[in-house]
Amino acid sequence: MYLTSDEERALEGEYGETVRKSMEILVALGKIYSADRLIEVESVQISGISYRNIGDPGIEWLESLNARVRVPTLINPAGMDIHRWQDMGITEEFARKQMRILNALKKIGAKPELTCTPYYILKPSKGDHLAWSESSAVIYANSVIGARTNREGGPSAIASALTGKTPRYGMHIRENRAPDVIVDVNLKLKSHEYSLLGYMIGEEVGDRIPLFIMKGRPSEEDMKSLGAGLASTGGIPMFHVKDVTPESNEFDMPKERMVVENLENPQGCEDPDLIAIGCPHLSGRELKKISNLLNRKVKKELWIFTSRYVRNRIPEVIRKIEMSGARVYTDTCMVVSPATERFGCVMVNSGKALCYLPKLSGLRVKFGSLEECVEEAMK
Ligand code: F3S
Repeated sequence: MYLTSDEERALEGEYGETVRKSMEILVALGKIYSADRLIEVESVQISGISYRNIGDPGIEWLESLNARVRVPTLINPAGMDIHRWQDMGITEEFARKQMRILNALKKIGAKPELTCTPYYILKPSKGDHLAWSESSAVIYANSVIGARTNREGGPSAIASALTGKTPRYGMHIRENRAPDVIVDVNLKLKSHEYSLLGYMIGEEVGDRIPLFIMKGRPSEEDMKSLGAGLASTGGIPMFHVKDVTPESNEFDMPKERMVVENLENPQGCEDPDLIAIGCPHLSGRELKKISNLLNRKVKKELWIFTSRYVRNRIPEVIRKIEMSGARVYTDTCMVVSPATERFGCVMVNSGKALCYLPKLSGLRVKFGSLEECVEEAMK
């Protein structure tokens, strides 16, 4: 793999031990994936920072870092709302450890914006190279924006933040972004069904990039839900929607074809004690819609997740939602926070939450539309 003289010096330790180790991670990855060189990235998003996931060894590693980020760096949701963790039922010990993680990330210069929708804060342009790590953010960046990022692990994203580089392989190379299989969707989908479609199709497409042919034009939020569902059951970093996503007409049509005639709603339980909305984190437009649906007080716990950035921009909308008794949490989500574990049956409108809540928190999950979720909370 070709390295510039500056990269060689970084690898020899001229910029300190942390940068040396970061360069070592990137070069090792580059060798595994046959990258020809390193390229510069415009921004980084670091995931895997909930204390629930990384525990004490993760804290110690983050606190040992001694360098500053070279490019704008945001962070994925943590295990709690950093101001309202008590309200969520998070223990003091967990909160203390979670704050140590966030302080270590702040010390290296990462912005304390804890969200899986970094594109609402730092919107990349088509063709930008990134090193993002949250699967739903990665698939959105590649597919809906046309930026280029592999799905980074926590350590490789941090290595990219501290060097401003990533190895050139995978999604950074145009040919690897071509679709492999057409998915003909013979249904007119409602918004929440994009999420269910992603959840259902993810496993079937495996690591092949799908080119969806849809009846009707999905909104950006629909594609956010579709991508999050696909990336949770499948793990692919990209999809195309014919005539909608930016690169959908740049490649030859694949020969392989799948047809979707119907969607099944996999109900895990009937009577939810928590309704959780906001996987991925909600946009301002989605929050506005919820505030309009909430026309009376909620009778069940309704937790809504968004970024602090979005929340702070629409205080009136948030006030109206919270007047109903629902809570709008930031910095965290229903999957990465241990706070949801005390419930039995959770209702969601997200294919990704449907995939992960049973696996990670042992919860049963009911799936419905946004409207059905809000209605259930007010019942
Ligand atoms: Fe985001 Fe949490 Fe869902 S990180 S995509 S809200 S699992």
